[in-house]
Amino acid sequence: MSHEPEKTIGVLTSGGDCPGLNAVLRGVVCAAHNLGWGVLGFLDGYEGLLDPTMHMELTLKNTEGIMQRGGTILGTTNRGHFVSKTGPGNRSRISSDVVTKTKATLAKLHVDGLITIGGDGSLTTSQQLFESGIKVIGVPKTIDNDLEATAMTFGFDSAVACVADGLDRLHTTARAHKRVMIIEVMGRHAGWIALYGGLAGGADAILVPEIPFSFDKLTNFVRRRIENGHPSTLIIVAEGATSRGGKEQYRASSTGEYRLGGVGDTVARELDARLNKPRLVKEIRTCVLGHLQRGGDPTTLDRILGTRFGVKAVDLIAEEKFGQMVSYQNYQILSVPIASAVRRLKTVPPDSQMVETCRAVGISFGD
Ligand code: F6P
Repeated sequence: MSHEPEKTIGVLTSGGDCPGLNAVLRGVVCAAHNLGWGVLGFLDGYEGLLDPTMHMELTLKNTEGIMQRGGTILGTTNRGHFVSKTGPGNRSRISSDVVTKTKATLAKLHVDGLITIGGDGSLTTSQQLFESGIKVIGVPKTIDNDLEATAMTFGFDSAVACVADGLDRLHTTARAHKRVMIIEVMGRHAGWIALYGGLAGGADAILVPEIPFSFDKLTNFVRRRIENGHPSTLIIVAEGATSRGGKEQYRASSTGEYRLGGVGDTVARELDARLNKPRLVKEIRTCVLGHLQRGGDPTTLDRILGTRFGVKAVDLIAEEKFGQMVSYQNYQILSVPIASAVRRLKTVPPDSQMVETCRAVGISFGD
C-alpha cells in the first residue's frame, strides 16, 4: 500500500556540473525519506520549473549508488531563462513571466520547498526567486570554489585532484624532453584551482587572476631554473589570469559565444620569444585541461561534503529557514543567507597563507 507523502520537496541542479552533485541528491532523498517526505527532481536546471512535466520522482531506489558518480542525474544548464548573472558584477532580473510560470509549476505539483544546487550565478537566481516569495534553500556548488560565505564548495577537491594528476603526468614527459610545459586550467575570476592544484601537483610557477604577472619576471625565473640545473619547468595558469596591464583572453566557441581561453598559448609564445635569443629551451608546449576538471567521479571529500549539504538542506526546510544556503565552516555544516553568499566572489587574497606557502617552497607567481 502506498502512502501520500507528508510533504513534497523539489530539488534541481543548475549551472556547470561538478562532481558531488549526485551525492547531494542522494543526501536530500535519504533525509526526506526519514521524514516521510517525497522528492521531485526538476530536469535541466531551473528550466525544469517552466514545465510541470519536466521532473522525475527521486526515490531511495533510483538514487542508490549515484553518490559515487560524477555529473548529475537531473541534467543541468548554465544558459536559458533563469540567467541572472553573466560576470562578477553583471546582474539582471529574471522576467516576471518566468517567475509566474515557476510559481504555477510548484503550486501544481504541491511542492512545499525547493532546494537549488548551484554556483554564484544560480544562487543569484535563487535569491531572486526567494525575494518573489518562493520557498528556496540554496546549496553551494562549483569547482571554482569562488563562493563567499562557505569555506569550501563540493566539486573543488575533485577538480584539484584532476589538476594534480595532470601535473604529475606532465612532469614526467616535460623532464624527458627538457621542455617548459604550460597547463591552462579553469578559474575565470578566481585562481583557487590553479593555486591548490599547482601546489599539490608540484608546479614551478602559478599564474592566477588575482596576481597579475610579468612575462619578463617569468622568463627570468625559468632562466634561473635552467642555470641551476632544472631544464624542465611546469607553469600552471588559470584561464582568467592576465599579465600586468594585459587583458583576459577569449576564444570563439562553436556556438559563436566568446569563452575565456588561450592564455596558456600566449604565455608559451611570449616565453619562447624571450628565452630563445639565444636558444635556452628546446620547446615550450601548452596543455589545456578543460572540462576534464569538471568530469569524473567525486573524491571522498566531495562525496562526504555533498551528502552533508543535502541532509542539511532538508533540515533547513523542516525548520522553514527559507532564503538560507548551507555553508561549510570550521568542519560544521551551518547556514547563511543566500544573499550573503552572492554579494561578491571569493577570490584568492594575494597575501594569504596559501600564497605565502607556495612562495616559501620556491613557486613563482610571475610577479
Ligand atoms: O563555473 C565553473 C566553470 O568550470 C568555469 O571555471 C569555466 O570557465 C566555466 O565553468 C566553463 O563553463 P562551460 O562549460 O559553459 O564552458
